[in-house]
Amino acid sequence: LYRSRAATVTPKFLVLGPSGAGKTALITTLERGAPTATHTSLTPLTIAAPLPATHTPSSARYRSTNDAALRLVPILFTDTPGHGKLRHLALGLITPAPPTPPPTGLIFVVDAAALSSEADNAGLRDAAEYLHDVLLALQRAYERAKSSVAREIPLVVVAGKLDLFTALPAGVVRSLLEAEIGRVRETKARGIVGVGKGGDGLGGEEVVEEGALGGRAEGKFEFGVMEEWGIKVSVVGGNVRGEGPGVTGLWDWVAGQI
Ligand code: GTP
Ligand code: MG
Repeated sequence: LYRSRAATVTPKFLVLGPSGAGKTALITTLERGAPTATHTSLTPLTIAAPLPATHTPSSARYRSTNDAALRLVPILFTDTPGHGKLRHLALGLITPAPPTPPPTGLIFVVDAAALSSEADNAGLRDAAEYLHDVLLALQRAYERAKSSVAREIPLVVVAGKLDLFTALPAGVVRSLLEAEIGRVRETKARGIVGVGKGGDGLGGEEVVEEGALGGRAEGKFEFGVMEEWGIKVSVVGGNVRGEGPGVTGLWDWVAGQI
């Protein structure tokens, strides 16, 4: 078995999520320990941050604790714009054209205070639609790859802004997103059938032969089904302002991937 790709390839994580979720505040916190003032991002931006001394890369866990080399490897985080019209920039980075290696993992940030389960919650819908599209892009890439090169990819959902008293805990964020992605999946499946039958030539490229997310368009969606396509989804809580768990949970997850 190959022990580690971390020693030879710089780990690179792609940060995505809706506009205003806190992506730029999060990566500047990873880089400097505190968020900088942010404004709506228009282009991807990569920063480098070393793994904090409190965390051990999983690939180093069974080695000498003196193996400081791995710790010094910078970890790259690529922030992307969350605005609906700019999401193609992020989606393009999920499966880059060779020889650019795909990211080590994906970090999908949501504002846990903007996802209430009330009917017609636009924040929840938007986050679920975006996450649906991200997971589907990964699923398709996995299906396209020859089995020999199909690669597992981890994705963590960060339930952010946990300092806000209206924020929902990570477990609730997880189930709300799963339920809403289920509804998005159903809506999209109906849309695709409609377009196919209409044959009006508009949006014809939307007629997709490949399967729906998780292999079926109906019923309950759970992140766990994505493991069939090599996608391991985790959910952690976090915040970069006020009182709360901070970014420890995210660093724990990152350390587990490198
Ligand atoms: P786009 O660049 O438009 O995609 O947004 P973004 O995801 O980069 O959001 P950004 O980091 O700019 O944060 C949006 C707002 O949320 C800013 O005013 C941040 O200060 C605020 N914010 C981010 N993280 C937190 C947090 O943990 N707690 C609180 N209270 N506010 C936060
Ligand atoms: Mg931003």
